[in-house]
Amino acid sequence: MNSYRIAVVGATGLVGRTMLNVLEERRFPVSRIIPVATERSAGTTVPFAGEELPVVAIGEDVFDGIDIALFSAGGSTAKTWAPVAVKHGAVVIDNSSAFRMQEDVPLIVPEVNAAHLPDAAPRIIANPNCSTIQMVVALAPLQRRYGIRRIVVSTYQSVSGAGKKGLDQLEMELEGRNSPVRAFPHPIAGNALPHIAAFEDDGCTTEERKMIDETRKILDDATIGVSPTCVRIPVPFCHSEALHVELRAPFAIDDVRSALEELPGVILIDDPESTAYPLATIATGRDEVFIGRLRRDPSVENGLIMWVVSDNLRKGAATNAVQIAELWRLLREGA
Ligand SMILES: NC(=O)c1ccc[n+]([C@@H]2O[C@H](COP(=O)([O-])OP(=O)(O)OC[C@H]3O[C@@H](n4cnc5c(N)ncnc54)[C@H](OP(=O)(O)O)[C@@H]3O)[C@@H](O)[C@H]2O)c1
Repeated sequence: MNSYRIAVVGATGLVGRTMLNVLEERRFPVSRIIPVATERSAGTTVPFAGEELPVVAIGEDVFDGIDIALFSAGGSTAKTWAPVAVKHGAVVIDNSSAFRMQEDVPLIVPEVNAAHLPDAAPRIIANPNCSTIQMVVALAPLQRRYGIRRIVVSTYQSVSGAGKKGLDQLEMELEGRNSPVRAFPHPIAGNALPHIAAFEDDGCTTEERKMIDETRKILDDATIGVSPTCVRIPVPFCHSEALHVELRAPFAIDDVRSALEELPGVILIDDPESTAYPLATIATGRDEVFIGRLRRDPSVENGLIMWVVSDNLRKGAATNAVQIAELWRLLREGA
């Protein structure tokens, strides 16, 4: 079996640390791991497979001999350094939005559109936005069976979606301390903020724009209407979503239930009488997408409503990226 030299760029961050855990848990064949971050973190260590690995500052030489560069260090870092990693012969799997909508860059959720990764895999592969990943996992089987006309989605996104700063701000506010770091424009404890990332001219936020554009690219249908409102809530981990879907064909709710139950990576929790439905506290630390509150939407033809919860740091980021690396490896090794 081949084993690979991997650079994890952003290794000291929430996603980077989770990537190291996921590589270890899934026994990705690794011959060497280089944790990379800023100069500030150089010399600190991160745990991997029972060892403490020294973090190195980003620079051209860190990509020497690297096969796979997993990036989770923001868009501008990816724009500057992904081409350098590629020049050194690595395949880049990037968690930022830097390359997602580039035509020659596949945007992959392995359970949904593995076929979008061509046999001669490109040198940059993008990992979608966390809210989009869990939504398309839930929608893909419905698209295959019935077609999708329109999606109205409200998200309830955890503070870890904003990185270390987001968790720090919530923690400090809950302790009644004044947070010196501000990830959000208002206090997050006690609030639901209808504002994630920057506002665009039409009033949409860039987070909402990502859900629109990326969903269409992944589901390969530019005609799907997507109407998101993205909201940050004071929950540490996991994003929750209320999904209102207008299908193109009539459906039986039991058929939808079976289609979702059959999906790898999906767990249905749907017994309202015993108050059983997906919760952030259930999904934290898990790789699956949890779905519940399945019901018909009588206000529209072929309308379906569901509640979808997943761990943004795992399936929404690190796990999906490692699954892409596994897919790349299969293609490369021709297994
Ligand atoms: N959090 C999520 O749920 C989530 C989900 C999907 C995608 N993403 C994406 O993943 C990326 C990281 O998110 P995160 O939540 O892990 O953020 P984070 O906790 O703030 O961590 C950011 C990481 O990037 C490193 N970094 C920043 N600038 C760098 C530079 N110029 N060169 C090298 N390393 C640099 C930081 O290093 P230092 O520690 O040295 O500063 C740190 O390791 C972002 O692009 C984000 O959009 C996040």
